[in-house]
Amino acid sequence: MGIVDKNDLTPAGLKHIAIIMDGNGRWANKRSLSRLKGHEQGAKAVREAIKGCGELGIPFLTLFAFSSENWKRPEEEVNHLMGLFRYFINRELDTLASSGVKVNFIGDINALPDDIQKLAELAKSKTAMNTDLVLTVALSYGGQHEIVRATQKLAKLAASGELSPADIDEKLFASMLDTDGLPDPDFILRTSGEKRLSNFLLWQSAYSELIFQDVLWPDFDRACLEEAIIEYQSRNRRFGAVSV
Ligand code: IPE
Ligand code: IPE
Ligand code: MG
Repeated sequence: MGIVDKNDLTPAGLKHIAIIMDGNGRWANKRSLSRLKGHEQGAKAVREAIKGCGELGIPFLTLFAFSSENWKRPEEEVNHLMGLFRYFINRELDTLASSGVKVNFIGDINALPDDIQKLAELAKSKTAMNTDLVLTVALSYGGQHEIVRATQKLAKLAASGELSPADIDEKLFASMLDTDGLPDPDFILRTSGEKRLSNFLLWQSAYSELIFQDVLWPDFDRACLEEAIIEYQSRNRRFGAVSV
């Protein structure tokens, strides 16, 4: 059980938490371990976050697992991360499926190794009927690239005469993004002390609250999640209107 009552933490307004899971490398460095060990520990914190959101009744959780820029890392680290994604999906899929989690992916999935693309498809189809928690994993994800891909789709429709440029509005544009069907995140949480978005959910974060915690991702636990929710609840979201 957490430190605060579930009903206090999740008022009707809080639907979607998105997390930039940062600090695995620093966690490992501090212990004179290889960065790879940091990623392995990070996978444990992923379980904590999913379990915590499930128990608190939060309907949408999005996790930034690998950015389109992370391909620039050393080959050994990229391969290790891909191995962890494989291991995690293989190992956790049955648990996710039986605990009401619907798995979803955003990002340039085609850039991933073939077998991971297949595993992602399997995870989606095996959990498609679940409704308790929509878990979106951002893999090879970059917000700018997502916007470019959406623009290409619209340009194609316009070029073939199926769409008039004047019909393009925010709603139509958003429907072309990978996040079509997901509500915008209420808050984006970044661990590790860095205070930037690093190309995460650029369109969708227009009115997200930004919460930064100093904890390194492998140390993230239920208390950190609850602390973030409490901080979110103290914010006054105005969406450009006058305070209510
Ligand atoms: C986040 O931790 C994991 C990924 C980006 C895949 P980092 O690997 O970025 O850890 P730091 O920022 O180097 O500590
Ligand atoms: C952002 O973290 C990406 C993920 C957490 C997956 P990075 O560690 O890659 O971001 P920068 O390089 O510090 O901006
Ligand atoms: Mg980092």
